[in-house]
Amino acid sequence: MDKIVVEGGRRLRGEVTVSGAKNAALPILVSSLLTDGCNTYRNVPHLQDIESALRLLAELGARVEREGTLVRVDASGVDRPEAPYDLVRKMRASVLVLGPLLARLCRARVSLPGGCAIGARPINLHLTALEMLGARIELQHGYVEAECNRLKGAEIYFDTVTVTGTENILMAAALAEGTSVLRNAAREPEVVSLAETLNAMGADIRGAGTATITVNGVPRLHPVEAAIIPDRIEAGTFMAAAALTGGDILLRHCQPEHLGAVIDKLRMTGVAMEVSPEGIRVRGGERIRSVDIRTQPYPGFPTDMQAQFMVLMSVATGTSIISETIFENRFIHVSELRRIGADITVIGNTATVKGVSMLSGAPVMASDLRASASLVLAGLIAVGRTEVHRVYHLDRGYEALEEKFARLGAAIWREKV
Ligand code: EPZ
Repeated sequence: MDKIVVEGGRRLRGEVTVSGAKNAALPILVSSLLTDGCNTYRNVPHLQDIESALRLLAELGARVEREGTLVRVDASGVDRPEAPYDLVRKMRASVLVLGPLLARLCRARVSLPGGCAIGARPINLHLTALEMLGARIELQHGYVEAECNRLKGAEIYFDTVTVTGTENILMAAALAEGTSVLRNAAREPEVVSLAETLNAMGADIRGAGTATITVNGVPRLHPVEAAIIPDRIEAGTFMAAAALTGGDILLRHCQPEHLGAVIDKLRMTGVAMEVSPEGIRVRGGERIRSVDIRTQPYPGFPTDMQAQFMVLMSVATGTSIISETIFENRFIHVSELRRIGADITVIGNTATVKGVSMLSGAPVMASDLRASASLVLAGLIAVGRTEVHRVYHLDRGYEALEEKFARLGAAIWREKV
C-alpha cells in the first residue's frame, strides 16, 4: 500500500500533457470483442483499470500485447463467455463485455459488479435494454446469465442517462439484425468516441453525442486502428490545481470542447483560461470567488469533477452550494476535507461549502478515484504536510499524478507504507 505525501504552499507552473481517457479507452478496448482480428489502439493510458480490462479480454480468449501507450488486441480467438467475479469486482466497467459477448457468441456469463463507495451502481438499465434486443437474462449466484439467438434491433428508452449502459447497447446493437433507436442516451465525449470507433470498424451509428442514437445493425465488424481521446477529467483536475495554487499551467493535448461546463465554472471563480492551438493555459487569480455547481449528465457539470471543485470552493471567498445529482453517496471526501479544516455541511445530496482562509495538512484516507484526487489537491494548498493513504484508488484513474504535479513544482512524492 502506498501513500502520497504533499508539502503544501507551492504555486504550480509549467506544462503538462494530459493522458488518454480511462473512460474512453475501456469501452473501446472491449469493442475488440466484436471483431475477429487484431485491433491497434494508441494513447492508451497506464492505469490499473486498463490493466484489469486487458486481463479480462485475455481471460475471454483474446491475445493482448502492449508497448508503451500502444495496445494490440486480437479477438479472433475469443471463445469463452465468462467474466469472473475476481476480475469484475476490481473493475465494475467489466459489465461492458455483456453486449459484445452476446453479439459475438450469443452467450455471456458476467459477475454482477456490486456497489462501490459512491453508490449502489445497479446495472438494471443495461439488462432491460439487452432483453429488448432479444437476450434472455437470468441472475443466478451473483452472475448475469445471458443468451440469445441473433440480437434483433429495438427501440430503447433509458429511464436514467447511463454512460456505460449506452455504450453496452451501442456495441450490442452494432451487430444486431435490423435497426435500433436509443432514446435518452448518454452524450458524453467517451460515448461519441466509442461510436466513431465502431463506425470505423464498419458499424452504422448516427446521432452519437445527442440524446437519440440510431444504429443500423451490420453482419460483421472488422479490426481497426484508433487513438484514445484525452482525459477531460484529468485535464479538469489540473485546471483546479492551477486555480487552487494561483499557478500558471499549460495543459497540452486536451480538448476544450469536452470541458465546456468546467471551463465556464472555473472562469466564474476568477481563473483566467486561454485556449490556443498548443492547449489550454490556466492561471489562478489572486482570490477565488465562490460559485454554485450542480452535477448533471454531459454537457452539464461532470460528477467526476465534483470533489475537485469542492476543494477549490473550500478556500474560496464566500459560500458555495454543491448538488450531486448523479450518485447517491459521492460526498465521502467531505469528512476527510473537514479534517484538514474545510467548513462543509451536507444535507442529502447538497453540500454547503463555506470558504476558509487556510487548510492544515493531516493524514487523510482516499475512498474512491476522484475523492483521492481531491485530497491530493487539498494537500497542494494545505499548510504543512498531508499524507493521502490508500492511493490505489488514485492509480485506477490517474497516470503518475504525483510525478506530473512534481514536474509542475509541487513538493509531492510517493512512499511505500
Ligand atoms: C460512468 O459510470 C463513468 N465510468 C463514471 O466514472 C462516471 O462517474 C459516470 O459514468 C457518470 O458520468 C465509466 O465510464 C467507466 P452511469 P457509469 O451508468 O456508466 C444509475 C470514474 O471516476 N444507473 O452513467 O457506471 C447510476 O446508479 C467513474 O471514472 C442505474 O440506476 O454511470 C447513477 O446514479 C466513476 N441503472 C446514474 O444512473 C443502471 O443500469 C448514472 O450512472 C445504470 C446506471
